[in-house]
Amino acid sequence: MPNSPSGDSSTDRLIRVLESFTSTRTAQTAAEIGRRAGLPASSAHRIVGELVATGLLERDDDRRVRIGMRLWELATRSSRALRLRQAALGPMERVQRRVREHTQLAILEQDEALFVEQLSDPDSGSNATRVAGRLPLHASSSGLVLLAFGDRALQERVLAGPLSALTGETLVDQAALRRKLAEVRALGHALAPGFVDADATGLAVPVRDETGAVAAALSVVLRRGMPVEPALAELRVGKLELERALGFRGRA
Ligand code: PHB
Repeated sequence: MPNSPSGDSSTDRLIRVLESFTSTRTAQTAAEIGRRAGLPASSAHRIVGELVATGLLERDDDRRVRIGMRLWELATRSSRALRLRQAALGPMERVQRRVREHTQLAILEQDEALFVEQLSDPDSGSNATRVAGRLPLHASSSGLVLLAFGDRALQERVLAGPLSALTGETLVDQAALRRKLAEVRALGHALAPGFVDADATGLAVPVRDETGAVAAALSVVLRRGMPVEPALAELRVGKLELERALGFRGRA
């Protein structure tokens, strides 16, 4: 890709434009995008115009632009999250109906837990996650599962830090985190009381695909103090259903 005078490629600039959109900043003017993406106004206007012409961005009546449905279509139709999400919806609905708290599915993505599906009840408790949101691996129940069953290089990278605290209870000590990962592997689930939010306990189990590798974490966000065992039993049923749908036939 051709480089600009500042040395970044057109792909870098395109990514910065797309990354300037967030879950709370869904519509922006080309000038705002340029400022946030660190682009000269003329480049920002040209790139935004090209993206609008291809449908990757859409223009509002008031000249602001948002992520286009075409981008959603291209990103969704062949992503690995799609198959997983489709297989997971039935098992997740069952877990959510029985536990009646946020039920979510996360995958490992660039050393973070990325949430690809979430089912909630109107009166479920608080939740720091959303679909297409991320949480640090060391700080959430889903992340701890993905980390505990991830490869050694990933574990060492994460353990080397920095390990940021989301609450006073997030594990940020390397030795304590190593012990926690061993516990997650031994128990086959991760319990994260107050790690993300002082009022919530995350509870997650690993989900294996046809290769036998852990492909996802299935989790619920319980209100602090809620009994864990009934929710864990439901998660285990959901996990087995999902693993069967993904073609997991048991470890050799
Ligand atoms: C967790 O997975 O540990 C978790 C996620 C979201 C919350 C609380 C806990 O709001």
